[in-house]
Amino acid sequence: MKVLIIGSGARESAIAWKYSKSKCVSGVFIAPGNAGTDKIGTNLNIDPFDFNAIIEACQSHKIDAVFVGPEAPLSAGIVDALQAKGIYAIGPNKEAAQLESSKTFSKQFMLRHNLPTAKAWEFADPALFENHVKSLSGKWVVKKNGLAAGKGVLESDNQAEMIAFGNEILKSDTLIIEEFLAGYEISVFVLSDGKNYIVLPPCSDFKKAKENDLGPNTGGMGSICPVPWVNSELKKNIRHNIIEPTMEGLKMDGINYKGIVYIGLMITQEGPKILEYNVRFGDPETQVLLPVIDIDFGDLTHSLIEGTIQNIPVSENEKSAVGVVIAAEGYPGPYKKNQPVTIDENLSESDALVFHASTIVENGQVLTKGGRCFSVVGMGKDTIDAAVKAYEHIDKVCFPGSWYRKDIGKKFFMDEDI
Ligand code: AMP
Ligand code: GLY
Repeated sequence: MKVLIIGSGARESAIAWKYSKSKCVSGVFIAPGNAGTDKIGTNLNIDPFDFNAIIEACQSHKIDAVFVGPEAPLSAGIVDALQAKGIYAIGPNKEAAQLESSKTFSKQFMLRHNLPTAKAWEFADPALFENHVKSLSGKWVVKKNGLAAGKGVLESDNQAEMIAFGNEILKSDTLIIEEFLAGYEISVFVLSDGKNYIVLPPCSDFKKAKENDLGPNTGGMGSICPVPWVNSELKKNIRHNIIEPTMEGLKMDGINYKGIVYIGLMITQEGPKILEYNVRFGDPETQVLLPVIDIDFGDLTHSLIEGTIQNIPVSENEKSAVGVVIAAEGYPGPYKKNQPVTIDENLSESDALVFHASTIVENGQVLTKGGRCFSVVGMGKDTIDAAVKAYEHIDKVCFPGSWYRKDIGKKFFMDEDI
Protein backbone atom coordinates (compact mmCIF):
# COMPACT_ATOMS: atom_id res chain seq x y z
CA MET A 1 0.00 0.00 0.00
CA LYS A 2 1.13 3.55 -0.74
CA VAL A 3 -0.05 6.47 1.34
CA LEU A 4 0.05 10.22 1.00
CA ILE A 5 0.00 12.37 4.13
CA ILE A 6 -1.20 15.96 3.80
CA GLY A 7 0.49 18.57 6.00
CA SER A 8 3.89 19.77 7.19
CA GLY A 9 3.76 19.81 10.99
CA ALA A 10 5.21 17.58 13.68
CA ARG A 11 1.87 15.72 13.73
CA GLU A 12 2.38 14.78 10.07
CA SER A 13 6.01 13.83 10.81
CA ALA A 14 4.71 11.40 13.46
CA ILE A 15 2.05 10.00 11.10
CA ALA A 16 4.67 9.47 8.37
CA TRP A 17 6.98 7.80 10.91
CA LYS A 18 4.17 5.47 12.02
CA TYR A 19 3.33 4.48 8.42
CA SER A 20 7.01 3.87 7.71
CA LYS A 21 6.95 1.14 10.40
CA SER A 22 4.03 -0.71 8.79
CA LYS A 23 4.65 -4.16 7.34
CA CYS A 24 2.20 -3.51 4.48
CA VAL A 25 3.17 0.04 3.45
CA SER A 26 5.64 0.26 0.58
CA GLY A 27 5.54 4.01 -0.05
CA VAL A 28 5.07 7.05 2.20
CA PHE A 29 4.59 10.43 0.50
CA ILE A 30 4.07 13.72 2.31
CA ALA A 31 2.69 16.92 0.79
CA PRO A 32 4.35 19.30 1.36
CA GLY A 33 6.15 17.74 4.37
CA ASN A 34 9.23 19.20 6.04
CA ALA A 35 12.99 18.62 6.33
CA GLY A 36 12.37 15.65 8.64
CA THR A 37 9.68 13.87 6.61
CA ASP A 38 11.93 13.86 3.55
CA LYS A 39 14.10 11.36 5.42
CA ILE A 40 11.13 9.19 6.40
CA GLY A 41 9.44 9.15 2.98
CA THR A 42 9.20 11.32 -0.13
CA ASN A 43 8.10 14.94 0.07
CA LEU A 44 5.89 16.25 -2.74
CA ASN A 45 5.97 20.00 -3.19
CA ILE A 46 2.19 20.47 -3.36
CA ASP A 47 -0.03 22.99 -1.59
CA PRO A 48 -2.61 21.12 0.58
CA PHE A 49 -5.33 23.35 -0.93
CA ASP A 50 -4.44 22.54 -4.54
CA PHE A 51 -6.81 19.58 -4.76
CA ASN A 52 -6.23 19.03 -8.50
CA ALA A 53 -2.47 18.73 -7.96
CA ILE A 54 -3.07 16.29 -5.08
CA ILE A 55 -5.37 14.17 -7.26
CA GLU A 56 -2.76 14.13 -10.04
CA ALA A 57 -0.04 13.10 -7.56
CA CYS A 58 -2.27 10.30 -6.23
CA GLN A 59 -2.80 9.02 -9.76
CA SER A 60 0.84 9.26 -10.84
CA HIS A 61 2.23 7.69 -7.64
CA LYS A 62 -0.58 5.08 -7.41
CA ILE A 63 -1.56 6.20 -3.90
CA ASP A 64 -4.05 3.90 -2.14
CA ALA A 65 -5.04 6.23 0.68
CA VAL A 66 -4.61 9.87 1.68
CA PHE A 67 -4.29 10.78 5.36
CA VAL A 68 -5.26 14.41 5.92
CA GLY A 69 -3.37 15.87 8.90
CA PRO A 70 -4.67 19.44 9.42
CA GLU A 71 -8.22 20.78 9.74
CA ALA A 72 -8.10 23.54 7.12
CA PRO A 73 -8.03 21.30 4.00
CA LEU A 74 -10.74 19.11 5.58
CA SER A 75 -13.06 22.05 6.07
CA ALA A 76 -12.23 23.22 2.53
CA GLY A 77 -13.55 19.86 1.24
CA ILE A 78 -10.41 17.88 0.35
CA VAL A 79 -12.12 14.57 1.19
CA ASP A 80 -15.10 15.34 -1.06
CA ALA A 81 -12.70 16.25 -3.92
CA LEU A 82 -10.65 13.04 -3.54
CA GLN A 83 -13.69 10.80 -3.12
CA ALA A 84 -15.21 12.22 -6.30
CA LYS A 85 -12.16 10.76 -8.11
CA GLY A 86 -12.39 7.43 -6.30
CA ILE A 87 -9.39 8.12 -4.04
CA TYR A 88 -9.78 6.96 -0.43
CA ALA A 89 -9.10 9.69 2.12
CA ILE A 90 -8.98 9.41 5.89
CA GLY A 91 -10.98 12.30 7.27
CA PRO A 92 -14.55 13.61 7.31
CA ASN A 93 -16.19 15.35 4.35
CA LYS A 94 -16.78 19.09 4.30
CA GLU A 95 -20.20 18.86 5.94
CA ALA A 96 -18.96 16.75 8.87
CA ALA A 97 -15.82 18.89 9.23
CA GLN A 98 -18.09 21.68 10.51
CA LEU A 99 -17.86 19.95 13.88
CA GLU A 100 -14.52 21.75 14.08
CA SER A 101 -14.83 24.63 11.64
CA SER A 102 -17.93 26.12 13.28
CA LYS A 103 -18.16 26.45 17.06
CA THR A 104 -21.91 27.19 16.76
CA PHE A 105 -22.46 24.03 14.66
CA SER A 106 -20.65 21.91 17.26
CA LYS A 107 -22.32 23.61 20.25
CA GLN A 108 -25.76 23.04 18.70
CA PHE A 109 -24.80 19.40 18.09
CA MET A 110 -23.83 19.00 21.76
CA LEU A 111 -27.05 20.63 22.99
CA ARG A 112 -29.24 18.62 20.57
CA HIS A 113 -27.76 15.36 21.86
CA ASN A 114 -27.66 16.33 25.55
CA LEU A 115 -23.88 16.19 25.75
CA PRO A 116 -22.25 17.79 28.81
CA THR A 117 -20.62 21.11 27.86
CA ALA A 118 -20.34 24.74 28.98
CA LYS A 119 -23.41 26.99 28.51
CA ALA A 120 -22.83 29.38 25.62
CA TRP A 121 -24.29 32.40 23.82
CA GLU A 122 -23.59 33.43 20.21
CA PHE A 123 -23.13 37.04 19.08
CA ALA A 124 -22.75 38.76 15.72
CA ASP A 125 -23.44 42.31 16.88
CA PRO A 126 -20.79 44.26 18.90
CA ALA A 127 -23.34 46.32 20.87
CA LEU A 128 -25.32 43.25 21.98
CA PHE A 129 -22.08 41.45 22.86
CA GLU A 130 -20.85 44.41 24.90
CA ASN A 131 -24.16 44.62 26.82
CA HIS A 132 -23.99 40.93 27.55
CA VAL A 133 -20.40 41.13 28.85
CA LYS A 134 -21.34 44.07 31.09
CA SER A 135 -24.04 41.93 32.73
CA LEU A 136 -21.49 39.27 33.72
CA SER A 137 -19.18 38.76 36.65
CA GLY A 138 -16.35 36.27 37.12
CA LYS A 139 -14.38 34.38 34.49
CA TRP A 140 -15.75 33.65 30.99
CA VAL A 141 -14.41 32.34 27.70
CA VAL A 142 -14.74 34.23 24.40
CA LYS A 143 -14.25 32.16 21.22
CA LYS A 144 -14.07 32.93 17.52
CA ASN A 145 -16.66 30.85 15.67
CA GLY A 146 -14.39 29.78 12.78
CA LEU A 147 -10.95 28.14 12.65
CA ALA A 148 -8.18 29.96 14.54
CA ALA A 149 -5.33 27.43 15.02
CA GLY A 150 -5.95 27.28 18.79
CA LYS A 151 -5.53 31.04 19.19
CA GLY A 152 -9.12 32.32 18.85
CA VAL A 153 -9.92 31.84 22.53
CA LEU A 154 -9.65 34.18 25.51
CA GLU A 155 -10.32 33.24 29.11
CA SER A 156 -10.79 36.36 31.20
CA ASP A 157 -12.53 38.00 34.13
CA ASN A 158 -11.78 41.46 32.75
CA GLN A 159 -14.74 42.95 30.89
CA ALA A 160 -12.69 45.49 28.89
CA GLU A 161 -10.35 42.73 27.72
CA MET A 162 -13.26 40.47 26.71
CA ILE A 163 -14.95 43.30 24.80
CA ALA A 164 -11.74 44.26 22.95
CA PHE A 165 -11.00 40.61 22.04
CA GLY A 166 -14.63 40.01 20.96
CA ASN A 167 -14.84 43.18 18.87
CA GLU A 168 -11.72 42.16 16.97
CA ILE A 169 -13.36 38.79 16.14
CA LEU A 170 -16.65 40.45 15.16
CA LYS A 171 -14.90 42.38 12.37
CA SER A 172 -14.75 39.14 10.36
CA ASP A 173 -16.75 36.43 12.15
CA THR A 174 -19.31 35.67 14.85
CA LEU A 175 -18.29 34.61 18.35
CA ILE A 176 -19.52 32.59 21.28
CA ILE A 177 -19.08 33.40 24.93
CA GLU A 178 -19.27 30.52 27.35
CA GLU A 179 -18.94 29.50 30.98
CA PHE A 180 -15.39 28.97 32.21
CA LEU A 181 -14.85 25.33 33.18
CA ALA A 182 -12.25 24.54 35.84
CA GLY A 183 -10.42 21.22 35.86
CA TYR A 184 -7.78 19.50 33.77
CA GLU A 185 -7.88 18.93 30.03
CA ILE A 186 -7.55 15.72 28.10
CA SER A 187 -7.85 14.85 24.41
CA VAL A 188 -9.65 11.70 23.35
CA PHE A 189 -9.33 10.30 19.83
CA VAL A 190 -11.99 8.11 18.26
CA LEU A 191 -11.40 6.46 14.87
CA SER A 192 -14.57 5.74 12.91
CA ASP A 193 -15.09 3.80 9.68
CA GLY A 194 -18.65 5.12 9.40
CA LYS A 195 -20.21 2.11 11.12
CA ASN A 196 -17.96 1.19 14.03
CA TYR A 197 -15.23 2.92 15.96
CA ILE A 198 -12.27 2.39 18.27
CA VAL A 199 -11.05 4.65 21.07
CA LEU A 200 -7.33 5.39 21.48
CA PRO A 201 -5.59 6.07 24.82
CA PRO A 202 -6.18 9.56 26.24
CA CYS A 203 -3.59 12.30 25.86
CA SER A 204 -3.14 15.67 27.49
CA ASP A 205 -1.97 18.79 25.71
CA PHE A 206 -0.30 21.71 27.49
CA LYS A 207 -1.88 24.67 25.73
CA LYS A 208 -0.50 27.65 27.58
CA ALA A 209 2.75 29.35 26.61
CA LYS A 210 4.19 29.53 30.13
CA GLU A 211 5.06 27.11 32.91
CA ASN A 212 2.28 26.22 35.40
CA ASP A 213 -0.32 26.66 32.62
CA LEU A 214 0.02 30.44 32.57
CA GLY A 215 0.28 32.91 29.68
CA PRO A 216 -1.52 33.00 26.34
CA ASN A 217 -2.99 30.01 24.52
CA THR A 218 -0.83 28.39 21.87
CA GLY A 219 -1.35 25.55 19.41
CA GLY A 220 0.09 23.32 22.19
CA MET A 221 3.51 23.40 23.88
CA GLY A 222 3.73 19.76 24.90
CA SER A 223 1.76 16.59 25.46
CA ILE A 224 1.67 13.32 27.33
CA CYS A 225 0.19 9.88 26.65
CA PRO A 226 -1.29 8.09 28.50
CA VAL A 227 -2.66 10.42 31.21
CA PRO A 228 -1.93 8.98 34.69
CA TRP A 229 -5.07 10.47 36.29
CA VAL A 230 -7.43 8.84 33.77
CA ASN A 231 -8.27 5.56 35.51
CA SER A 232 -10.58 2.84 34.24
CA GLU A 233 -13.60 4.36 36.03
CA LEU A 234 -13.10 7.73 34.34
CA LYS A 235 -12.53 5.98 31.00
CA LYS A 236 -15.89 4.20 31.40
CA ASN A 237 -17.59 7.48 32.31
CA ILE A 238 -16.14 9.17 29.21
CA ARG A 239 -17.16 6.27 27.00
CA HIS A 240 -20.71 6.18 28.32
CA ASN A 241 -21.46 9.90 28.73
CA ILE A 242 -19.37 11.43 25.93
CA ILE A 243 -18.19 9.01 23.23
CA GLU A 244 -21.28 6.83 22.78
CA PRO A 245 -23.76 9.75 22.61
CA THR A 246 -21.41 11.65 20.27
CA MET A 247 -21.12 8.76 17.81
CA GLU A 248 -24.85 8.01 18.13
CA GLY A 249 -25.63 11.71 17.59
CA LEU A 250 -23.63 11.75 14.34
CA LYS A 251 -25.64 8.77 13.08
CA MET A 252 -28.95 10.34 14.15
CA ASP A 253 -28.03 13.53 12.25
CA GLY A 254 -27.35 11.47 9.13
CA ILE A 255 -23.61 12.20 9.18
CA ASN A 256 -21.65 9.21 7.90
CA TYR A 257 -18.48 10.07 9.80
CA LYS A 258 -15.27 8.49 8.50
CA GLY A 259 -12.05 9.52 10.16
CA ILE A 260 -10.96 10.89 13.50
CA VAL A 261 -13.22 12.52 16.07
CA TYR A 262 -11.02 14.43 18.51
CA ILE A 263 -12.92 15.25 21.68
CA GLY A 264 -11.35 17.98 23.83
CA LEU A 265 -12.54 17.42 27.40
CA MET A 266 -12.30 19.34 30.64
CA ILE A 267 -12.41 16.94 33.57
CA THR A 268 -14.37 19.03 36.07
CA GLN A 269 -15.57 18.21 39.57
CA GLU A 270 -18.95 17.41 38.00
CA GLY A 271 -17.35 15.01 35.54
CA PRO A 272 -16.06 15.31 31.96
CA LYS A 273 -17.42 18.17 29.83
CA ILE A 274 -16.77 18.82 26.15
CA LEU A 275 -14.67 21.88 25.30
CA GLU A 276 -14.58 21.24 21.57
CA TYR A 277 -14.63 18.73 18.77
CA ASN A 278 -11.91 18.56 16.17
CA VAL A 279 -11.97 16.42 13.06
CA ARG A 280 -8.34 15.22 12.90
CA PHE A 281 -5.51 14.14 15.15
CA GLY A 282 -4.17 16.68 17.66
CA ASP A 283 -0.84 18.43 17.45
CA PRO A 284 1.17 17.87 19.71
CA GLU A 285 -0.87 14.85 20.96
CA THR A 286 -0.13 12.70 17.88
CA GLN A 287 3.60 12.89 18.57
CA VAL A 288 3.06 11.08 21.92
CA LEU A 289 0.05 8.94 20.98
CA LEU A 290 1.55 7.12 17.99
CA PRO A 291 4.75 5.92 19.72
CA VAL A 292 2.61 4.50 22.56
CA ILE A 293 0.05 2.51 20.55
CA ASP A 294 0.90 -0.81 18.97
CA ILE A 295 -1.27 -0.38 15.87
CA ASP A 296 0.13 -1.00 12.39
CA PHE A 297 -1.08 2.03 10.40
CA GLY A 298 -1.20 0.05 7.16
CA ASP A 299 -3.60 -2.44 8.80
CA LEU A 300 -5.53 0.46 10.30
CA THR A 301 -5.93 2.07 6.88
CA HIS A 302 -7.10 -1.21 5.32
CA SER A 303 -9.67 -1.56 8.08
CA LEU A 304 -10.95 1.99 7.56
CA ILE A 305 -11.30 1.34 3.83
CA GLU A 306 -13.04 -2.01 4.35
CA GLY A 307 -15.23 -0.92 7.27
CA THR A 308 -13.69 -3.38 9.73
CA ILE A 309 -12.20 -0.99 12.29
CA GLN A 310 -13.63 -3.03 15.15
CA ASN A 311 -11.04 -5.74 14.35
CA ILE A 312 -8.11 -3.45 15.19
CA PRO A 313 -6.97 -4.27 18.72
CA VAL A 314 -6.14 -1.24 20.85
CA SER A 315 -3.59 -2.12 23.45
CA GLU A 316 -1.28 0.40 25.01
CA ASN A 317 2.21 -0.97 24.73
CA GLU A 318 2.92 -0.17 28.38
CA LYS A 319 5.12 2.74 27.48
CA SER A 320 4.57 6.39 28.31
CA ALA A 321 5.53 9.32 26.14
CA VAL A 322 6.12 12.98 26.98
CA GLY A 323 6.52 15.46 24.11
CA VAL A 324 8.07 18.90 24.45
CA VAL A 325 7.54 21.46 21.70
CA ILE A 326 10.48 23.69 20.78
CA ALA A 327 9.13 27.03 19.54
CA ALA A 328 10.59 30.00 17.69
CA GLU A 329 11.45 33.31 19.35
CA GLY A 330 8.28 35.40 19.60
CA TYR A 331 5.74 32.53 19.33
CA PRO A 332 2.72 32.61 19.90
CA GLY A 333 3.02 36.23 18.70
CA PRO A 334 4.88 37.16 15.51
CA TYR A 335 7.92 34.90 15.42
CA LYS A 336 11.35 34.65 13.82
CA LYS A 337 11.74 32.36 10.82
CA ASN A 338 14.69 31.04 8.81
CA GLN A 339 16.81 30.22 11.87
CA PRO A 340 19.61 27.70 11.14
CA VAL A 341 19.15 24.45 13.09
CA THR A 342 21.70 21.95 14.31
CA ILE A 343 20.32 18.50 15.07
CA ASP A 344 22.13 15.61 16.64
CA GLU A 345 20.44 12.64 14.93
CA ASN A 346 22.14 10.16 17.23
CA LEU A 347 19.04 8.85 19.05
CA SER A 348 17.68 5.51 20.10
CA GLU A 349 13.92 5.36 19.38
CA SER A 350 13.32 3.48 22.61
CA ASP A 351 14.53 6.60 24.47
CA ALA A 352 13.49 9.57 22.35
CA LEU A 353 12.19 10.77 18.99
CA VAL A 354 12.55 14.12 17.24
CA PHE A 355 9.73 15.26 14.94
CA HIS A 356 10.24 18.28 12.68
CA ALA A 357 7.51 20.87 12.05
CA SER A 358 7.56 23.08 8.95
CA THR A 359 11.34 23.00 8.61
CA ILE A 360 12.96 23.31 5.18
CA VAL A 361 16.43 22.68 3.77
CA GLU A 362 18.22 25.47 1.89
CA ASN A 363 21.75 24.93 0.57
CA GLY A 364 22.10 21.89 2.81
CA GLN A 365 21.09 23.84 5.93
CA VAL A 366 17.91 23.04 7.92
CA LEU A 367 15.95 26.26 8.60
CA THR A 368 12.91 26.94 10.79
CA LYS A 369 9.74 28.16 9.07
CA GLY A 370 6.96 27.88 11.65
CA GLY A 371 6.17 29.00 15.20
CA ARG A 372 6.30 25.51 16.68
CA CYS A 373 9.42 24.01 15.10
CA PHE A 374 10.10 20.58 16.68
CA SER A 375 8.64 18.06 19.11
CA VAL A 376 11.12 16.10 21.19
CA VAL A 377 9.39 13.01 22.59
CA GLY A 378 10.81 11.05 25.53
CA MET A 379 9.79 7.41 25.99
CA GLY A 380 9.71 5.77 29.40
CA LYS A 381 8.02 3.23 31.64
CA ASP A 382 5.83 5.99 33.14
CA THR A 383 5.24 9.72 32.71
CA ILE A 384 8.08 10.73 35.04
CA ASP A 385 10.58 8.52 33.26
CA ALA A 386 9.39 9.76 29.85
CA ALA A 387 9.65 13.41 30.94
CA VAL A 388 13.21 12.82 32.14
CA LYS A 389 14.06 11.30 28.73
CA ALA A 390 12.43 14.17 26.82
CA TYR A 391 14.40 16.82 28.70
CA GLU A 392 17.63 14.78 28.50
CA HIS A 393 17.29 14.89 24.70
CA ILE A 394 15.96 18.42 24.25
CA ASP A 395 19.43 19.82 23.49
CA LYS A 396 19.68 17.54 20.46
CA VAL A 397 17.95 20.38 18.60
CA CYS A 398 19.44 23.90 18.71
CA PHE A 399 18.62 27.13 16.90
CA PRO A 400 18.87 30.82 17.83
CA GLY A 401 15.98 32.09 20.00
CA SER A 402 14.46 28.62 20.57
CA TRP A 403 12.41 28.10 23.74
CA TYR A 404 10.27 25.42 25.38
CA ARG A 405 8.25 24.82 28.52
CA LYS A 406 10.21 23.09 31.25
CA ASP A 407 7.26 21.50 33.07
CA ILE A 408 5.52 19.30 30.48
CA GLY A 409 3.82 16.41 32.29
CA LYS A 410 4.84 17.69 35.70
CA LYS A 411 1.38 18.49 37.10
CA PHE A 412 0.41 14.84 36.59
CA PHE A 413 3.17 13.54 38.85
CA MET A 414 3.61 16.41 41.30
CA ASP A 415 1.84 14.45 44.02
CA GLU A 416 4.32 11.64 43.70
CA ASP A 417 7.60 11.56 45.52
CA ILE A 418 10.43 12.11 43.06
P1 AMP B 1 -11.14 25.43 22.02
O1 AMP B 1 -10.63 25.96 20.71
O2 AMP B 1 -12.60 25.60 22.19
O3 AMP B 1 -10.66 24.07 22.35
O4 AMP B 1 -10.39 26.29 23.12
C1 AMP B 1 -8.98 26.30 23.21
C2 AMP B 1 -8.55 26.15 24.64
O5 AMP B 1 -9.15 27.19 25.45
C3 AMP B 1 -9.00 24.86 25.31
O6 AMP B 1 -8.13 23.82 25.00
C4 AMP B 1 -8.97 25.26 26.77
O7 AMP B 1 -7.65 25.28 27.26
C5 AMP B 1 -9.48 26.67 26.74
N1 AMP B 1 -10.94 26.68 26.89
C6 AMP B 1 -11.87 26.65 25.90
N2 AMP B 1 -13.13 26.66 26.40
C7 AMP B 1 -13.00 26.68 27.73
C8 AMP B 1 -13.95 26.72 28.82
N3 AMP B 1 -15.26 26.75 28.60
N4 AMP B 1 -13.46 26.74 30.08
C9 AMP B 1 -12.12 26.73 30.31
N5 AMP B 1 -11.19 26.72 29.34
C10 AMP B 1 -11.61 26.70 28.06
N1 GLY C 1 -3.65 20.06 20.47
C1 GLY C 1 -4.62 20.98 20.03
C2 GLY C 1 -5.06 20.77 18.65
O1 GLY C 1 -4.53 19.95 17.93
O2 GLY C 1 -6.01 21.44 18.25
